[in-house]
Amino acid sequence: MTLAPPAPATAAEEPPQSLRITYDDGLTDRTATVRVWRGDGTGGRLVDYAVPLQEGMVVLDAIHWIQANRAPDLACRWNCKAGKCGSCSAEVNGRPRLLCKTRVEDAGGPDGQVVVQPMQSFPIVRDLVTDVSWNYEVNATIPPFTPAAGDAAPFVIPEADLVRVEEYRRCIECFLCQDVCHVLREHRATDRFVGPRFLVRIASLELHPKDTRDRLPLLRAEAGIGYCNITKCCTEVCPEHIKITDNAIIPLKERVADREFDPIRALWRRLRPLPMAAWAAVAPQGPAEEDPAEKGAPPELPPG
Ligand code: SF4
Ligand code: SF4
Ligand code: FES
Repeated sequence: MTLAPPAPATAAEEPPQSLRITYDDGLTDRTATVRVWRGDGTGGRLVDYAVPLQEGMVVLDAIHWIQANRAPDLACRWNCKAGKCGSCSAEVNGRPRLLCKTRVEDAGGPDGQVVVQPMQSFPIVRDLVTDVSWNYEVNATIPPFTPAAGDAAPFVIPEADLVRVEEYRRCIECFLCQDVCHVLREHRATDRFVGPRFLVRIASLELHPKDTRDRLPLLRAEAGIGYCNITKCCTEVCPEHIKITDNAIIPLKERVADREFDPIRALWRRLRPLPMAAWAAVAPQGPAEEDPAEKGAPPELPPG
């Protein structure tokens, strides 16, 4: 994974007058330099903050300390502080991370600095907050879970099938995989490729033993699965350790290839007898009582 180096920092900011909060628990005698990107969609810069280091402090703690003691207007999205809501996604020292699961001491580069920037694949709103609404628009285009008519919960499903689907459902929609994927990050192909998060979602439906919907045409066309070249960068950054490439994207690619490019299957599709409804659809129009199957040679059919 190659990410752009952060822009050079400005000189340390003078602490403004603000309400001050003292964190004494676990306070060490050390200070971490946390460089935070400040700005909006028109531009910005890195600003240095000296943060008193606590034992086990995560980067989100440092951001909260800065908000409470130095910059109350610093914008950062977060919710659970437990690695489960997917809100605090950003880049720490150039790597997509959850701020609440990244320890300051583990994140530091060789010089001990911690550089915190917003996700680079999405439009910046302000400071560390990005506009991820495109992801929700993509999500709405994926056909939902569709069991067979008359097949309703509670389903009886073999455990092995459940385990496979459960992995996809661990996703917390942090969009770190979307952030790191070069198809979105560098090529900005949001009109042709849905990104790894939504290939995981399609896998959770397509490989569900009780789902009956066919999403392979969607995968090949609108979802753009062919743009993924299996670099595995998405898998490396997933905080839920979902094997995005091996367990979601590759099985989907195999299904698309089997359907579209297997020569035996293609021949079979051309030769197999079509169901009566399909015959009727292509039969010449005639009196309603005529049955095409009883009128000698069937009409020429398009490829199946
Ligand atoms: S494996 Fe595919 S989806 Fe994942 S980061 Fe690489 S190109 Fe993107
Ligand atoms: S697949 Fe992983 S990295 Fe991608 S959105 Fe879900 S939890 Fe985040
Ligand atoms: S605050 Fe919820 S995942 Fe970080």
